[in-house]
Amino acid sequence: MGKHSSSLSIFLLLLLLQLTSILNSQSTNASLPDTEVRALGDIASKLNMKPMRYYSAQSCSDYYNSRISCNCSYNSNTVCHVTEMSLYSNQLTGSIPEELGNLTFLTYLDLSDNYLNGPIPESLGTLHSLVSLYLYNNFLNGSIPAALGELSSLKYLYMGQNQLSREIPDELGNITTLITLSLLENQLSGNLPPGLGNLTNLERLWLPSNNFTGKLPESFAKLTNLQVFTILGNNMSGQIPSFIQKWKNLTTLSLMGNNFEGPLPLEIFKLEKLDTLWVSDLRNNYEPRFHFPPLSKLTSLNSL
Ligand SMILES: *[C@@H]1O[C@H](CO)[C@@H](O)[C@H](O)[C@H]1NC(C)=O
Ligand SMILES: *[C@@H]1O[C@H](CO)[C@@H](O)[C@H](O)[C@H]1NC(C)=O
Ligand SMILES: *[C@@H]1O[C@H](CO)[C@@H](O)[C@H](O)[C@H]1NC(C)=O
Ligand SMILES: *[C@@H]1O[C@H](CO)[C@@H](O)[C@H](O)[C@H]1NC(C)=O
Ligand SMILES: *[C@@H]1O[C@H](CO)[C@@H](O)[C@H](O)[C@H]1NC(C)=O
Ligand SMILES: *[C@@H]1O[C@H](CO)[C@@H](O)[C@H](O)[C@H]1NC(C)=O
Ligand SMILES: *[C@@H]1O[C@H](CO)[C@@H](O)[C@H](O)[C@H]1NC(C)=O
Ligand SMILES: *[C@@H]1O[C@H](CO)[C@@H](O)[C@H](O)[C@H]1NC(C)=O
Ligand SMILES: *[C@@H]1O[C@H](CO)[C@@H](O)[C@H](O)[C@H]1NC(C)=O
Repeated sequence: MGKHSSSLSIFLLLLLLQLTSILNSQSTNASLPDTEVRALGDIASKLNMKPMRYYSAQSCSDYYNSRISCNCSYNSNTVCHVTEMSLYSNQLTGSIPEELGNLTFLTYLDLSDNYLNGPIPESLGTLHSLVSLYLYNNFLNGSIPAALGELSSLKYLYMGQNQLSREIPDELGNITTLITLSLLENQLSGNLPPGLGNLTNLERLWLPSNNFTGKLPESFAKLTNLQVFTILGNNMSGQIPSFIQKWKNLTTLSLMGNNFEGPLPLEIFKLEKLDTLWVSDLRNNYEPRFHFPPLSKLTSLNSL
């Protein structure tokens, strides 16, 4: 009896080992859906990427020197999806391929610091899992597509240092997950859309060196988590709004190089965390200088 049960357990053990190895080999054999394989092929050729190993590959390993990564744990480890593309500073030319919109599991897309031109494709709006989108320092032009407002998981959006023009679409105000929005050094113009005031999680808003006009929208009073607000070098006008005092976490405020009217609301000097304040060249600055209030609260102010 004892002998029988021990050989039975050895048999079971061997069976188990066999099963495990089958399961393991299956998990290393998880494959990427055809849609994504084809999209990757198209993207690679449109961006003139050189080593294109994945043209024939079905599995997700070894893609483009780890600049493209997959997660292979979908459907009980049988299906992979492309989740990250990190193609910054890669001398990419051409325009952004709309096939990127077929990689719907992407969470991270970095195409910054290349030579990409033409428009930002609307298809990027389908990337509902995207958390980070970096497109800065290219030659992108045309307007910012309203479809980007559908990026419902996005936290970091960097489109600075391009040639984007026209107004910021109000729909960007739908991305309530957004933490950083950077649009610096483009050719954007018109009024700032009131919808941006709905971005209540926003901590950093960079808008310098564009051609924005009009007043700061009242809705911006809701941006109470802002730490950095810079709109240096635009064509903004109107009074500097006193709602800025509600931005309690503000560390950097840069309003220089616009047509704002003074005086600077004194409440701004009560912001305890403010350490960088760039104002000046206010119109109607009838007082020779601001009346400096006792700077008791502004212990960390560096530049004025
Ligand atoms: C991977 O899957 C294919 C077909 O689904 C099969 O022919 C091949 O043997 C598998 N490879 C491994 C290592 O399991
Ligand atoms: C890619 O997505 C577009 C819609 O955005 C669709 O028409 C097309 O069929 C998709 N391509 C593949 C290969 O699935
Ligand atoms: C891979 O995807 C699964 C299922 O969505 C998720 O639970 C897991 O955290 C992901 N792994 C990584 C490393 O992102
Ligand atoms: C964008 O740039 C291309 C050249 O790179 C030009 O042909 C096109 O007219 C420009 N589009 C806009 C909207 O400026
Ligand atoms: C933005 O949200 C509004 C409702 O707040 C909705 O009507 C609109 O369709 C949304 N737009 C986009 C592009 O998601
Ligand atoms: C911003 O929020 C207001 C009030 O909730 C809403 O009416 C408006 O449609 C929103 N705008 C956008 C662009 O989400
Ligand atoms: C800025 O916009 C105004 C009016 O919208 C226009 O008159 C002006 O030429 C623009 N300036 C630049 C530098 O584009
Ligand atoms: C400011 O920052 C603190 C800590 O960094 C955080 O707890 C708080 O929610 C932020 N927002 C406001 C409006 O104070
Ligand atoms: C600023 O905008 C006004 C119209 O609002 C325009 O007349 C003026 O040319 C603009 N200035 C610059 C430097 O673009």
